[in-house]
Amino acid sequence: METINPSAGSGKYQLIAFDAYGTLFDVYSMAQLAEELFPGHGQALTFMWRDRQIEYTRLVTLSDPSPSGSKYYLPFWDLTIRSLHYVCKRMSLELSAENEKRLMDQYAKLTAYDDSLTVLKSIKERGFSTAILSNGSKDMLATVVQSNGLKPYLDKVVTIEDVRLFKTAPQAYELLIKEFSVSKNEILFVSSNAWDALAAKWFGFDVFWVNRLGHPYEEIGDRPNYEGSSLSKVLEII
Ligand code: LAC
Repeated sequence: METINPSAGSGKYQLIAFDAYGTLFDVYSMAQLAEELFPGHGQALTFMWRDRQIEYTRLVTLSDPSPSGSKYYLPFWDLTIRSLHYVCKRMSLELSAENEKRLMDQYAKLTAYDDSLTVLKSIKERGFSTAILSNGSKDMLATVVQSNGLKPYLDKVVTIEDVRLFKTAPQAYELLIKEFSVSKNEILFVSSNAWDALAAKWFGFDVFWVNRLGHPYEEIGDRPNYEGSSLSKVLEII
């Protein structure tokens, strides 16, 4: 377990935990390569790919939410490949083995948002503990964290792989409390996925929703505690 520095930070939070895909790493940056491979379809493919990937995490989790994990569990990497297959079939696009490899190689080293590194670094320098909590599989998270230079600024990369239930299962959010020995109200969870922000709030975390595109929030549940147009805004409230 991670030991928390009791003098960390000045406010109520000890741990600032980030969602990975969509929050620190730009899943829609795939559109450029997708457009090169499938002219005229790059953006639609990228959006549908992301939606299908998340849909599969929900199917797996809801269809067997056992405490020992879903018997339908597949690592997020596999779900990402299978959702790519689905979407290409659905859009009648021929996905060659070579193009699949190009897309997945890029996905493995997905580009971080411009401010991901500087924000994590500042948070760390201010004495907070930092973490990722992601649906991603261990290997894929290790690769994307490393390739973007974020590793030195993260105390832990927490993945749902051990509970075999994806977010938004409560067991997934619970992992942060177990890993860091902090109470719920000492954690600020940061996500740009509104569904993730909402579920984390339902779980009991304080939540910062990064709303880069000025989207509406979900129409159910409570509002997030904080909202901002970039990750940098997190620095203003901790
Ligand atoms: C994550 C994805 C689902 O958990 O955003 O990183």
